[in-house]
Amino acid sequence: MATMMMSIFPPPPSVASLFILSHCTHTIRVQSTTQFTGFSIRTRTRDCSRILLTEEREMAVMEEKKLLQTGIAEFYDESSGLWEDMWGDHMHHGFYEQDVTVSVSDHRVAQIRMIEESLRFAALSEDPAKKPESIVDVGCGIGGSSRYLAKKFQAKSVGITLSPVQAQRANALAASQGLADKVSFQVADALEQPFPDGQFDLVWSMESGEHMPDKPKFVGELARVAAPGGTIIIVTWCHRDLGPAEESLQPWEQNLLKRICDAFYLPAWCSTADYVKLLESHSLQDIKSADWSPFVAPFWPAVIRSAFTWKGLTSLLRSGMKTIKGALAMPLMIEGFKKGVIKFAIVTCRKPENVEIE
Ligand SMILES: C[S@@+](CC[C@H](N)C(=O)[O-])C[C@H]1O[C@@H](n2cnc3c(N)ncnc32)[C@H](O)[C@@H]1O
Repeated sequence: MATMMMSIFPPPPSVASLFILSHCTHTIRVQSTTQFTGFSIRTRTRDCSRILLTEEREMAVMEEKKLLQTGIAEFYDESSGLWEDMWGDHMHHGFYEQDVTVSVSDHRVAQIRMIEESLRFAALSEDPAKKPESIVDVGCGIGGSSRYLAKKFQAKSVGITLSPVQAQRANALAASQGLADKVSFQVADALEQPFPDGQFDLVWSMESGEHMPDKPKFVGELARVAAPGGTIIIVTWCHRDLGPAEESLQPWEQNLLKRICDAFYLPAWCSTADYVKLLESHSLQDIKSADWSPFVAPFWPAVIRSAFTWKGLTSLLRSGMKTIKGALAMPLMIEGFKKGVIKFAIVTCRKPENVEIE
């Protein structure tokens, strides 16, 4: 009888909480607390099915997260060598002066400019009092930012990525540049960072946020590992801010983003305003944001042009299906920017000196 009761009424989890991502727009937090005391049989049966549903959903979300992580790791394992060959060690957009014709050699300069402009936007000058001594590079690629920042500030930097190939290459490049004592790279999840609280003067996330399936957790981790008084810089792809009367993007906009998600291993997108709200919810200070879409406009056309060179085409064909799928989706990024659905956003803030971050 007891066994039968157990199979009908399995012990409930005391608290089951679940983050569900709505399709390419917002993250909704659903929390359910269930206790089996004083309910009629009918209520129990209904609650049981609800718990089973919740558990099933929880498992489905975990499964989806695992699939996404594997996809991201494999995508970058496969494509990073090709990218480095064609574009060097920075796997991010360039920041271009407007209305200036850009030649090929300008692109690497523009990628460095992106780093410099981001530091300037966050008011992190070379003023010795503001110089970060410890940096975390969240979603580090092959470590271009970490090495640049470590040299610039004579700081220590640690980078995390999901891709073992990237971590290995980033460490090899650091060693070959005599930086092995200053920078290091490891495979780790940005949503569960292997660092104690309050560790880093500069928390740097250059074009990795768009890969994060749980934006509240992502921002929570950035806030947690920042040292008191530390700076957080997030440069990321967002969808446009919604208007006051809008609850979601238009179906055609969602459809465009979905096709990009599929090709680049991205989960739901959020807006710049969503990021600002998340940072506010952690009582972070001096929150600033800007739309830098006009400054990155020459980037994707240049990437597409480089893919159509002999070297680009042969390397692309050698690199594998995930990379080819990504390359085919590049015109969608141009369309997204042109139609104003995609925004290239920078969001920065500072962790208060004396306040405990939740
Ligand atoms: C477009 S690359 C940017 C690389 C680098 N920030 C740069 O500017 O050169 C995106 C990076 O985010 C990393 N990434 C994506 N999701 C991640 C996660 N959950 N945890 C850690 N890294 C992640 C990828 O492994 C990849 O290194």
